[in-house]
Parts: sequence; C-alpha cells; structure tokens
Amino acid sequence: MNTGNYAMLEVFARALQPGGKIRVVSEAISVLEKCREFPVEQGYYRWLKIPVETDTEYEIFCEECQVSFCYLSGCENILEAGVCYLEQEKESGGFVKFSQARQYDSPIRETYHFAPWKNWLNDPNGLCWFQGYYHMFYQLNPHSQQWSQMYWGHAASKDLVHWVHLPVALEPQEEILNNPEEQKGGAFSGSAIMHEGEAIFFLTRSLGPMVDGENTLQQQWKMTSRDMLHFSKERLVIDRPPRGASFDFRDPKVIKASKKWYMALGSALEGKAAILLYESGDLEHWNYTGPLLVEKETGIRCMECPDFMELDGKYLAVGALMHHYDSQGRYQMCRYYIGDFEDGTFTEEHRGWFDFGSNCYAMQSFEHKGRRISIGWISDFYGEHLELERGACGSMTIPREMHIRDGRLYLTPVREIESLKSERLYRGQGENVCLKGICPNAYKAEVEFEDNIAFSIQLGGDENRGILLIHDEKGLRIQTKGVKSESVMFPAEVEKVEKLEIFADRRTVEVYVNDGEAVGTKLFYDISDQGCFILNAEAAECLKRAEVFRMESIWTGEK
Ligand code: FRU
Repeated sequence: MNTGNYAMLEVFARALQPGGKIRVVSEAISVLEKCREFPVEQGYYRWLKIPVETDTEYEIFCEECQVSFCYLSGCENILEAGVCYLEQEKESGGFVKFSQARQYDSPIRETYHFAPWKNWLNDPNGLCWFQGYYHMFYQLNPHSQQWSQMYWGHAASKDLVHWVHLPVALEPQEEILNNPEEQKGGAFSGSAIMHEGEAIFFLTRSLGPMVDGENTLQQQWKMTSRDMLHFSKERLVIDRPPRGASFDFRDPKVIKASKKWYMALGSALEGKAAILLYESGDLEHWNYTGPLLVEKETGIRCMECPDFMELDGKYLAVGALMHHYDSQGRYQMCRYYIGDFEDGTFTEEHRGWFDFGSNCYAMQSFEHKGRRISIGWISDFYGEHLELERGACGSMTIPREMHIRDGRLYLTPVREIESLKSERLYRGQGENVCLKGICPNAYKAEVEFEDNIAFSIQLGGDENRGILLIHDEKGLRIQTKGVKSESVMFPAEVEKVEKLEIFADRRTVEVYVNDGEAVGTKLFYDISDQGCFILNAEAAECLKRAEVFRMESIWTGEK
C-alpha cells in the first residue's frame, strides 16, 4: 500500500488480548524505522495517530486487535482530496486502500445523499461555510451500525452536493473510553458560528450511567478552529442545567439576534419539553434568560437539537421532539414555531411539522450569502434498517433552503442539486406514467397538475411491499406497505397539490410539495435496486407535466 500524499495513518483499534498491537512496516525506509509497533489497549477502541512517510510503500498488520475504522490523512490538500480509507482484507489480513472518491456501493445505500463511509451517523453538527468550503460535522459511531459512544465525524463540500470525508474531529471523553461498560455519552451535538476569522463551536459533552437519569451530566463546551483541521482544547461554558430544567440539557445552537448572542438549548422544564435561552456579550459568559418556548403538548421527554433564527422578517424556532408520537403514529418529528421575538421573548403565531415523513430529525441550519440552509438527519425510527456488511446507518437530507411565506415555513432543495440530473427517463403530459426497473434506483421526478386531482404514485417496491405517495379525499400522504411503518400515516399539511419534486435515492425518498409548502422524508429499504415511478390518476388529462431524470452519484469514482 502506497501512502501517496498522505503523512498520517489514523487507526481506531482495540486489543482482543494483552499484547495486541498495530505493526507498520516499510522496506523503503531506514532499518531503524522499518518496523514500528504500536501497542493497543484492551477495552474500548483507541484512536492511534501514526506519522508515515509520503509516497512510500507500507504494510500494516493488526495483531490480536480489532480495527473498526482506518484512514490516511495529513495531506496538504485534504479539503479537496479527503481522507483515504483503508480496509482490512479478510483473506490476506492486509490493509487495502480505497480511493476517496469511492463509497461502498450497495442497493440500499444512497448515491446522492451524504452518508458516512460506514457505520452509524446521526445529527448534523457545526454546519457552516468557512474559507471557501461548507463544513458538516455529524454525530458518528465509527465502530458499528448502532448508536453508541459519540464522536464527531467531519465532511466538507464546495457546492453542498459533493462531499469529501475528513478526519474524525472529536472522540468521547477519557472517562468513557476507560469504562465504556458503565459510562455512556461522548461528544454530543452542537453548532458553529464564524467570529473574527475563527470558527467557534459550542457542543455538549454528555457523561452518565448506561440508563439516563439524574446522574447524567450534560455540559456545554466551547472550542475554536482557524483551519477546520485543528481544534483548540474545549472549555467549559455552562456546567449544569438551570433550576427546574431536566438532566436532558443539550445541543447548543448559538445565533446572533437583535445584535446579541443567544444560545438555544434543548431540555424540559417541569416535565414539559422546552427550548432554553441563554445570552452572552462575549461568547464566553452565558446567562440564563428563561425558556424561549415551552411545548404545550405533554408526553415528550425533552426538546433536542433546537434551532432558532431570524428569517424573512419573522423568527423561527425548531425543536426535535424526543419520544413523541403524534396522532397518526408518527414517531419523533421536528416541530417548527413561527413568531416574533422582542426583548428576549418569543411569541408563537404558527406551528407546523418540519417534515411530514418523520424520518428527518435533528435538523440544523446555517446562513451563507443570504441563504438559510438546513440539513436533517435521515433517521430510521421504525427499525427498518438492514444491517449489511460495511453498511451505513444514517444519512443526511438534501440541503434545503428555508423561507417564511404567508406565515408558513417553506423548504426547497438547494438549486445546486439540479447539477446531478442526467439522462431524462421520461417526459410527458396528460397520461399516466409507468417506469419500472430504474437501475440504480436514483432519480428525480417532477410533476405538475392542472387541477387538484386524486392520484397515487408508487415510488418503490411492488404490490406487496412498497412505498406510495397518495392524494385523495383524505389529503396527501406517504404510505408504506409490507414494512414496519405500514400502520403509520404520513400526511402532508397541504390543501391542494399543484407541483411535486420527488427525489428517490435507493432507501431514501424525499417529496417536496408545491415549491416547498411541505416536505416528507421516508426510508424504504429494497435490496433489489430496481426503482420505479408509477403514477396513476383517473383524471390523467390534468397532468400538466411529468418528467423523470436519472440522478448521478456524488461519489464520483463509483460506477
Ligand atoms: C438527537 C440526539 C441529541 C444528542 C445526540 C447524541 O438525535 O439525541 O440530543 O446530542 O443525538 O448522539
């Protein structure tokens, strides 16, 4: 294996028995340096950073230890090139290089939605634009396809569409790494702001017993970066929740509003989900000013990943409702609240669902060049994930531009996503559409209606097991068949349907209605990779336009 431009080897490893080690061997360098051994501890995975020579042949051996995640980093143009992943070959035991451009290909893995190289992802964190690149950090468990002790993963993009994977940014606290059977937590969610040429991050460090409770400690920390590759030591800024707030006290979102710095935190007050507000003059000292909002609805453990912003002359707050079921059976949705914000007080005027498909959680937004852009975590809340070898559980929605119009939230896919449209698979009007065998199952469909007609569109699967978009006298909704979410209803809050933009990307479907009046994200796993778009309407003459385009993969090395 040749290191090319890379000067660092990063390995996440744990010893299977005493004496476990990583051996790094190169015939090309001096005898003394030829074979280096790095002891690996038993217990939890440890993050080893091993300097290597560039343009040099190496062999890496893993002795009596297990490697979960491994890559080369430390090249000069890493923001362009990304890390280079290495995987251990079953047969030879040696490590093989994967070019950055590639992603593991599988019929259930998205081709144009961001997903990690492998294993588990949740919330987007620290979204920002910094010196020419969009940065996305995210909650990552590099070791398996389940949620566990939390790390921050990191990716960068020039266009919000194509991403490169960067080195892991944060790992769980030492207390957790030393005692992972009894301590739970890690680097939880947070946000970033740009200030005086620096990126400043605020995040939660969570530490507590395996079952959350009064002994769970969630504190807010601050860290900075001048290049997005090196991060300062974290400093504690808020050490405990205010009186009356629950131990769920996390996910700082810092914003500037009315010329002041505010931090919104997810929590619960006297048993009701709430967003708490802090204020600061120097981004260092934070004072609790009271709740930004307290959710009236009961049965919600807490608010998670709050967002708060000024948008189109109004104020918008968004919160992820932990352990909440709505009347349709939908689990864990994000709710938005539009209103005014004066003298630190938010007055709600309208509320709605951020995404009617309920597989979109913990959204976060940021502003760049006058655009307010949000990304949400595509979350498997109905236990539908298929754990295939080297798979990824969790991905991100297409970045969405946010607006408030007529007192409601509008979300549209960023225009950059249009650059992925390639071959047109269908164009027509006034007739029903039946496209089958779209392979790979990655397309965008655009439909416009003359009238508010009834229709059904099959977006995946077959008669027994499928995902449909239905519009009839009960309204517009996503419906699944033959899968765990079958009994749940996914209705959109719209009165009529004039226009649809549908993004199908293997296990993920995103439906945008009426130029952003509603959007629904739903997972549907199908190992066949045969996509379909079957539109049936009785009044087919009212179909003004239907077009279907193949979408290119964002992992350019992929076939
Ligand atoms: C939301 C959440 C956050 C927390 C993070 C931990 O999905 O529970 O509240 O910071 O995930 O991974």
